[in-house]
Amino acid sequence: MPHDSRLAGLLGIELPILQAPMAGGPSTPKLAASVSNAGGMGSLAGGMSSPDRIREEIAATRRLTERPFAMNLFVLETPHPAPEVVEHAVKLLQPLRDELGLPPQPPITKFCESFDEQFEALLESEPAVASFTFGILSESQVEALHRRRILVSGTATTVAEARAWQAVGADMVCAQGADAGAHRGTFLDSYENSLIGTMALIPLVCDAVKIPVIAAGGIMDGRGIAAARMLGAFGVQMGTAFMLCPEAGTSQLWRDALRNGAEHPTRVSRVYSGRAARGLVNEFMLRLSPHEHEIAPYPIQNALSGPIRRAAAQANRPEFLSLWAGQGVGLCREVPAGELVRILARETQEMLET
Ligand SMILES: Cc1cc2nc3c(=O)[nH]c(=O)nc-3n(C[C@H](O)[C@H](O)[C@H](O)COP(=O)(O)O)c2cc1C
Repeated sequence: MPHDSRLAGLLGIELPILQAPMAGGPSTPKLAASVSNAGGMGSLAGGMSSPDRIREEIAATRRLTERPFAMNLFVLETPHPAPEVVEHAVKLLQPLRDELGLPPQPPITKFCESFDEQFEALLESEPAVASFTFGILSESQVEALHRRRILVSGTATTVAEARAWQAVGADMVCAQGADAGAHRGTFLDSYENSLIGTMALIPLVCDAVKIPVIAAGGIMDGRGIAAARMLGAFGVQMGTAFMLCPEAGTSQLWRDALRNGAEHPTRVSRVYSGRAARGLVNEFMLRLSPHEHEIAPYPIQNALSGPIRRAAAQANRPEFLSLWAGQGVGLCREVPAGELVRILARETQEMLET
């Protein structure tokens, strides 16, 4: 597969294939290290992790690979929701709690980890790359990462967001098309205005910024990688494609749903977490969809629906899980991550040679 010297030089990797960070289970040190060891770049998902867990996962990955890998965080402010916002969210979820035999929702005092503390842990641990979604860093935060020689990748779902990341000094931008699995990185406009398909978004972003663009969303094989390269992307970030790898922490119920993914639609919805995210349509999504615009924002809804999703997992009820998946889910392959990277490299080379 042709080497892209700009991306390879920047990241110190052989292949422009990045395994996406996948919070909620799929990302593991073993998955990230396997991808990095095969010449791509693995990512850890720290968005929902405590600072200690962030340090531990980076250390665990370092024990498995000497190659570069990324740690990802959600750029979030600690929320202080009005009591009526929480009460309404609890009321909407109560029928699902009842059905799973859960007691009434106890008060929640902590909705998410402190971003500042997560950021400190990231700085101290010095991964090769730090990637961010849901928001944008300040110039001084980017400088702090650069002082530690950590490269910065920001997620953009529109041209304006890509320009904003370039303006704060990011080294690269991950352009996330509407096809992508799980949460939208949107932070400037509404998610409805920011659902641009990967095929349109990549050339738009490539024309708008000078920093390297990483394409994400619905890329599942060498055809997708070659297409992204043709559209101007320096590399690709793939999530769904890695979810069935044995090294991924994807749960059994989730794996079963992904294996049947070709037969099922995906949709972007706010109902599970309060932030727009793409997943397989199931009963949870359909039942809460009429309330889409009343749902409490992330991370409030995420914290309140967490116990429901955990109880559903224990009760073998995938209809109440968040089954994140991208639109390419029907193309998932169940092979070890290192082998998948090698297959992808070979397929891409074949496509680019034809
Ligand atoms: C299960 C899952 C979890 C994800 N979690 C994160 C995350 O924690 N941080 C992040 O920046 N992106 C996350 N993403 C989005 C990916 O970075 C990427 O945009 C997406 O996987 C690309 O689309 P694809 O799944 O079709 O390959 C996640 C994607 C999936 C499928």
